[in-house]
Amino acid sequence: MSKKLVPVISQQEIADTVKRLAQELDRDYGDRAPVLVGVLKGCFIFLADLIRQMQTPIQSIELIRLSSYGSATESSGEVKVLVGLPESAIANQHVILIEDIVDTGLSTTTALQLLQAYNPASLKLCSLLDKPERRRVPVAIDYLGIIVPNLFIVGYGLDVNEQYRQLPAIYALEDE
Ligand code: PRP
Repeated sequence: MSKKLVPVISQQEIADTVKRLAQELDRDYGDRAPVLVGVLKGCFIFLADLIRQMQTPIQSIELIRLSSYGSATESSGEVKVLVGLPESAIANQHVILIEDIVDTGLSTTTALQLLQAYNPASLKLCSLLDKPERRRVPVAIDYLGIIVPNLFIVGYGLDVNEQYRQLPAIYALEDE
């Protein structure tokens, strides 16, 4: 069956939201230059836009990659770290985990546990999107952009089978 893209979040709303989140981070961090840790691949566009709106100095930008749990493994909820980062990048630093979306919460929880084990001075979570209807484990989002309904959404970094990441706005993928 063919699919159609139905607009959910416009480019303007994304831009306004990214700017607001950058302002909240600037307000809270001031000159305590944080380490931003993005979760690949979905975060890359949000992270790139967010840092260009931030005024506060940034200590470093780190990227990690986790395994997706496909439908076959979803029940186990197991998420593996495919690409990690050195403990020295995190220890004693003010760390902000950057996600494009928190869905079941399994990836984010794994990422937060990984970072916490490296003894950061502080650890916060910033996510552009939140889909709370899908949550399987509780996750506290310190800096939240937009709550989205339980639709299959793509664009602005989010994909289906690696497609649609480059779309500048966010769409629901629906049957024709
Ligand atoms: C997506 C998204 C988040 C994660 C959230 O990544 O980028 O990192 O899922 O889902 P969760 O809350 O259910 O764990 P995905 O695993 O699809 O990989 P990708 O970013 O490379 O597309």
